[in-house]
Amino acid sequence: MTPAQVKLVQDSWKKVLPIADTAAEMFYSKLFAMDPAVKPLFKGDMKAQGRKLTGMLSTAVNGLTRLETIVPAAQDLGRKHVKYGVKDAHYDTVGAALLWTLEQGLGDAFTAEVKTAWASAYGILAKTMKDAAAAVPA
Ligand code: HEM
Repeated sequence: MTPAQVKLVQDSWKKVLPIADTAAEMFYSKLFAMDPAVKPLFKGDMKAQGRKLTGMLSTAVNGLTRLETIVPAAQDLGRKHVKYGVKDAHYDTVGAALLWTLEQGLGDAFTAEVKTAWASAYGILAKTMKDAAAAVPA
């Protein structure tokens, strides 16, 4: 990612944060509509789950300027997701649901540049998580 893309992601995330709970709710509705099979993987309270997701996204977004600071947490999260029953292919659906949610939340501010920047940021995070997951012994 270029420094300009990092800034686009960080600035646009700041606009989503005030509506984070609503955004998380929209995200999960979209995700479950896109792939109903993932719904049973979520066992806990969805509001708390939404806060964990947006919290982790905030950490990742802030850490984009110093990637090495977020890699260990992302790897740890990727390994945990193996236990939750998450497969590699799910990351594509989650990525699409995330971009859709950002588009709803940002409206006109979700420009093509912002979309590309978010796709790269999510791609980096998802790849780090998937690589760590792949290294978990079966
Ligand atoms: C960048 C991608 C992702 C991020 C940042 C993320 C974030 C998180 C976080 C922070 C937690 C809580 C972990 C904990 O309490 O230890 C969690 C749990 C979970 N995530 Fe993800 N996640 C991502 C991708 C995915 C994908 C692709 C799926 C597939 C459907 C998924 C499904 C789940 C499930 C099922 C749980 C456990 C829910 C429960 O305990 O009931 N996540 N995720």
